[in-house]
Amino acid sequence: ASLAAGIAGAQGYPERPVNLVVPFAAGGPSDAIARLVGQSMSETLGQQLIVESVGGAGGTLGAARVAHADPDGYTLLIAHVSLAAGETLYPDLTYETQTAFAPLGMINQGPMVLLARKDFDAADGAALIQRMKEGGEDIAVGHAGVGSNSHLCAVLLEKTMDTKFTLVAYQGTGPAMNDLMAGGIDVMCDQSTTSIPQLEGGTVKGYAVTSAERLEALKDLPTLQELGLEDFNFTIWHGLYAPAGTPTEVVEKLNSALQDALDDQKILGRFAAVGTSPFPDDQRSPSAHNEKLQAEIATWQRVLGDTAE
Ligand code: MLT
Repeated sequence: ASLAAGIAGAQGYPERPVNLVVPFAAGGPSDAIARLVGQSMSETLGQQLIVESVGGAGGTLGAARVAHADPDGYTLLIAHVSLAAGETLYPDLTYETQTAFAPLGMINQGPMVLLARKDFDAADGAALIQRMKEGGEDIAVGHAGVGSNSHLCAVLLEKTMDTKFTLVAYQGTGPAMNDLMAGGIDVMCDQSTTSIPQLEGGTVKGYAVTSAERLEALKDLPTLQELGLEDFNFTIWHGLYAPAGTPTEVVEKLNSALQDALDDQKILGRFAAVGTSPFPDDQRSPSAHNEKLQAEIATWQRVLGDTAE
């Protein structure tokens, strides 16, 4: 297409539905955030954002799909720490994480919750930690794939407790949660977004939050630091991405629609109910998002440098 046609296309964007790739299984926290924010952005943009789940390889398969898509704003990605950690953990990626994406803006941040199956023999957080320390490989810990939040949380727990669990990989914490409810696995770190509804339903047991501070929506749960896991502080984040080379006008339109979603009282109410927060105003620009991505890549390179598969 000519340059003029490209610019005209950017001005009229979006003229058809937009694909939003979730790189994990349906029913998990990334899917939940994508649907919530996608709904509001659809209304602002006047076109449907269609959520498509492309799970596998800790989110890197879905990320690859978007990295190689046309940079026209019609294929987007919601991603989190696994996009950054993947650069260290998966040496055979078909894209370079630092340069393959146009960051569009940060979405939400919040803690994870340390959960166990309902009939697990541990009365409280202190007892669970004791059981996990003693149980080692007898404790089956579910996660959403190498590099996901739930996986990194489990790995940090192993390091802090100086033990090894039996780690069980799924394509997302959605299916892992189903197995936790069914008693097929013992323990999981899951984002508050999907943990809180399960805790309210009484399908699993919550023991602690992974952040440095207690969470308003789960006031009774101690932090892992309170339980003696020194310096344990794990916070999740999501951001929205397009392929690198997406026209600036399209990036700005998507950033603006995302910011509107994060100012929408309906969405803020839903976020608060599940213990997650929108990124503050001054961290919402595409350039702030890019800085965050590059910093996260460097952080996880440092933390995981010696553990690449
Ligand atoms: C998911 O949606 O399954 C999660 O975001 C996975 C995770 O990072 O634990």
